[in-house]
Amino acid sequence: MDDEQHQTIKQYTTWLDKGDIYTQHFRFVLSPLARPLLHPPLARMARRLDIGPGDRVLDVGCGRGSVLEYIRHTVPLDLAPVGVDVTHALLGMARRTFLGSDGKNGWAPHLSRASSTYLPFPGEVFDVVLCSYMVKHLNDDDTRRMAAEVCRVLRPGGRFLIWEFAPSRLDLLTRLYRRVFSVEVKAVYLRHHQELAPLVARGGFRDVRRFPLGPTLYPPIPRVGVLAVKG
Ligand SMILES: C[S@@+](CC[C@H](N)C(=O)[O-])C[C@H]1O[C@@H](n2cnc3c(N)ncnc32)[C@H](O)[C@@H]1O
Repeated sequence: MDDEQHQTIKQYTTWLDKGDIYTQHFRFVLSPLARPLLHPPLARMARRLDIGPGDRVLDVGCGRGSVLEYIRHTVPLDLAPVGVDVTHALLGMARRTFLGSDGKNGWAPHLSRASSTYLPFPGEVFDVVLCSYMVKHLNDDDTRRMAAEVCRVLRPGGRFLIWEFAPSRLDLLTRLYRRVFSVEVKAVYLRHHQELAPLVARGGFRDVRRFPLGPTLYPPIPRVGVLAVKG
């Protein structure tokens, strides 16, 4: 992990320790309760990714497990998905999300602490990798490294879906978004599709496309979706 990633962990940890209203809002936004507001329609995404019962799913930068919690209740998977995140405090919150219940699928996800740039898995073990609102914390080199790691752990034909906040067409608004996002965590890189897709391709994916995310409600900031398929 480079120094910037260490700083990100430290900043998230300090932030989550605070009790102010901005922190409470952030905790809420990452919780399953806020999922319909923050995330694009996940049902449509699961359908378009064609996630089947036999698929092994990894969520990179899973936070407090909001997306995994959705999968647990709605996507019939035979095997428990895996979530990784660098921030202890958020993984602790994720563990509490799944405490005491195996959901209707009969499993709770496996959660472990790892960076997206060094995934602790052997090659070709996953079919689908998801990454929501995390890639903004990675500089270009680390984004390419993450894509290379994801490409390594995906089986041939595996799908990698990223969704993230994107810049506005107006510079002024983009500067405002950056300012808002970087109040607590300083590493914030907002990218258009034409900036993000080549970085993913440089990780080893040959098939990298724009992924239409559908409507999102909150916050009113544009999103970018990138789907990469391992050849
Ligand atoms: C805004 S949160 C999004 C969490 C979750 N994906 C969601 O959509 O609710 C960003 C997450 O990325 C994690 N993160 C930041 N840098 C990371 C890295 N290099 N590897 C793995 N996770 C990282 C943070 O700890 C945080 O949980």
